[in-house]
Amino acid sequence: MIRDEPLVLGIETSCDETGVGIVRGNTLLADAIASSVDQHARFGGVVPEVASRAHLEAMGPTIDRALADAGVAFTDIDAFAVTAGPGLPGALMVGVAAAKAYALSLGRPLYGVNHLAAHVCVDQLEHGPLPKPCVALLVSGGHSSLLLVPDVAGDVRSLGSTVDDAAGEAFDKVARVLDLGFPGGPVIDRMARDGDPAAIAFPRGKYKDGTYDFSFSGLKTAVARWVEAKERAGEPVPVADVVASFQEAVVDVLTQKALKVCKDNGVHDLLIGGGVAANSRLRALAAERCEAAGIRLRVPRPKLCTDNGAMVAALGSELVATGAAPSDLSLPADSSLPIESVLMQ
Ligand code: KG4
Ligand code: ZN
Repeated sequence: MIRDEPLVLGIETSCDETGVGIVRGNTLLADAIASSVDQHARFGGVVPEVASRAHLEAMGPTIDRALADAGVAFTDIDAFAVTAGPGLPGALMVGVAAAKAYALSLGRPLYGVNHLAAHVCVDQLEHGPLPKPCVALLVSGGHSSLLLVPDVAGDVRSLGSTVDDAAGEAFDKVARVLDLGFPGGPVIDRMARDGDPAAIAFPRGKYKDGTYDFSFSGLKTAVARWVEAKERAGEPVPVADVVASFQEAVVDVLTQKALKVCKDNGVHDLLIGGGVAANSRLRALAAERCEAAGIRLRVPRPKLCTDNGAMVAALGSELVATGAAPSDLSLPADSSLPIESVLMQ
């Protein structure tokens, strides 16, 4: 760590995690998280109003915890970064308003950044500077995107995304069908280890060969129908085989399309991020297929893959380092901020 590199505090509130991260350059000093996931569990998905209120309550304490973890004073912060979008409008607004107030009170620059670009940039905290270009596969409860990233601070292009359910959403919905609780990803990941991934030939969550888009809603429906048919016939549902076969269908398509984007664009580095990147089968299959294709794979550790403040601080730090002009303090929260807007002016 170079001591005179700027100290950047990042705030994330786009969904159900209140995240505050602090970095100096590419060195992670604090990554404090308060999650409202337990408050959404009984609804089987994130309830926007509940998430917004939880952010309001958690913001102050999470900032204090991050400062204490980093061992720095609030007045030491040189720049602030905040997720300006995409995400839930009310949830984003809490973070953006807080960040404006903090930046204004200290007279420091504020960078309103893109959540997806932040998911990509976080890997710099773990594996060093990103290769230019690289391809990023971002898979979470809210997004499934394939990005070409010539420069994470200024040039990020969307090549494909989901046309319906996000990959994590499909895990959550299948878990709901099987009464496995919310969020569904971690429990399916665990249970699938005892199942046979080839037991049931579920349709691959493809969307038109030749495009880089994904579709998971047909797969999710196929799983629900299959389970219903078993129940109607009075037969036991082999849950481990169902989730293993479902998971295999998802990760097969994700890795196939990600590798195709790399190949078609002559890119040799693939990064996987977002909550679903914690999936052990996705990590294993991606590693296997990347090795066979001569592609270097980067996957941040699971805590950096799910939504967090460190990723926002990482992108803020990168923008400071590249000399980008900060956002205007009138910046809005934009729930559908396009990926081409890495930094909101
Ligand atoms: O990135 P994230 O924390 O929040 C957003 O949705 O933006 O991702 C949460 C999603 C949930 O849908 C959850 O079920 C999924 O990531 N997830 C997983 C695993 N861990 C979390 N999906 C599959 N396997 C996992 N191990
Ligand atoms: Zn996310």
